Amino acid sequence: MSQHAYQKCINIDCGAEFDCSQVIVKCPQCGDLLDVKYHWDKIELPEKLSDFGNRWATRNNRLDFSGVWRFRDLLNFCDDQYKVSVGEGQTLLQQCCGLAQDLGMNPNSLFLQYEGMNPSGSFKDNGMTAAFSHAKMVGAVASACASTGNTSASMALYAHSCGLKATVFIGEGKIAFGKLSQSMDFGGHTIQVAGDFDDCMRQVQDVCAELNIYLVNSLNPFRLEGQKTIMLRILEGLGWEVPDWIVVPGGNLGNSSSFGKAFAELKEIGLIDRIPRLAVINATGANTLTELVNDKGLKWNGGAYDQQIIDTYYANLDATGYRPETIASAIEISRPVNLKKCLRALEVCNGVVLDVTDEEILDAKAQVGRYGLGCEPASAASIAGLKHLLANGTVGKDERVACVLTGHQLKDPDATVNYHSKMARAFSNPPVQVENDLQKIIDLLK
Ligand code: F0G
Repeated sequence: MSQHAYQKCINIDCGAEFDCSQVIVKCPQCGDLLDVKYHWDKIELPEKLSDFGNRWATRNNRLDFSGVWRFRDLLNFCDDQYKVSVGEGQTLLQQCCGLAQDLGMNPNSLFLQYEGMNPSGSFKDNGMTAAFSHAKMVGAVASACASTGNTSASMALYAHSCGLKATVFIGEGKIAFGKLSQSMDFGGHTIQVAGDFDDCMRQVQDVCAELNIYLVNSLNPFRLEGQKTIMLRILEGLGWEVPDWIVVPGGNLGNSSSFGKAFAELKEIGLIDRIPRLAVINATGANTLTELVNDKGLKWNGGAYDQQIIDTYYANLDATGYRPETIASAIEISRPVNLKKCLRALEVCNGVVLDVTDEEILDAKAQVGRYGLGCEPASAASIAGLKHLLANGTVGKDERVACVLTGHQLKDPDATVNYHSKMARAFSNPPVQVENDLQKIIDLLK
């Protein structure tokens, strides 16, 4: 067991602490979310961030090869013997001058962190490697998640690679086929619930508690530790400099929560001297965070947030039978489980929140595709959001911005083909019909 880490309830009135060997997911005393915390004074940390880069020279060591475990000193909650890796985190920060120019930015200012290059094609592998390492440490034999698709693909891959059973809860008709096909292929046991993601999320928590199954949704604090490394790789891609902005889509709000934690910790231990600003982008059809923060004025407020605002909002969703609806199915979530941690991250990073329409998401996705990177709809919310932030002057055109492309282009080909062939939008690129006749084909191409 780790001597260096423990779990702590995020509720400032509770703050209960637990050993990392406990599989609890929520505080047993007050029901709030848990953090993984570290005794930094007992951990041998590098003097400067660039020391992590030296591990590239020893990349035949499987942990140095992993883009997550290369930073293991910063997520030091289990011994190396338990660490599971399938080569996650070999992802790149790509400068995208063309897209920057299209957006009216300084061409050198825009960077895309392409998490679609992970083994299962999304950022989830960063978190899953950490969650399954913890699962191995505590001797779990079965895992489960609720998912809009990517979590299930990643969970099934990791469970298969380390010998745990995997059960996936998905909403009926709510999952892109690229993702569903992955979890079926990796041997995941798929349970299709007659409901949406929020229903699945509720059910899976009770099922896991009842049947003693290891839950790998982002409620799991160990999973979020792995996702911190996305930010470390952005810093690495910028020569260990801190950008001005991180822009990320918001669904269940695990990423935004872990990014805020990463920067707070790096500042606390003196490895960075300033924290970038964070923009979290919702889809308009699933914009709980935007409504709560921008319209209802909900803030973390040092932990003294106004629970009444949240309760009233959710009671209204229940009363009206509200169901989220967006083409960005990955973020079609109206009750984000990490809401409070995300509020905390917004405070740490002086963050902003906004929502973007499905049309804006699909246009942005096609623009990203034109520059050879490609992503799924939810990921493009970051670029669509950035357009708004540039237009209203929140982000300056010379500021350095890193947008996280959370999932691969091939995850949801239906959305892409539909946009190009049926929607007649600004960046649509439909196939042209021609008869099976050489001259007609030549005439068409002249
Ligand atoms: N982008 C993609 C491609 C996702 O799959 C998800 C979440 C998000 C963004 C949102 O990230 O939850 O950290 O705010 N997908 C989950 C799933 C819910 O089940 O695959 P978040």
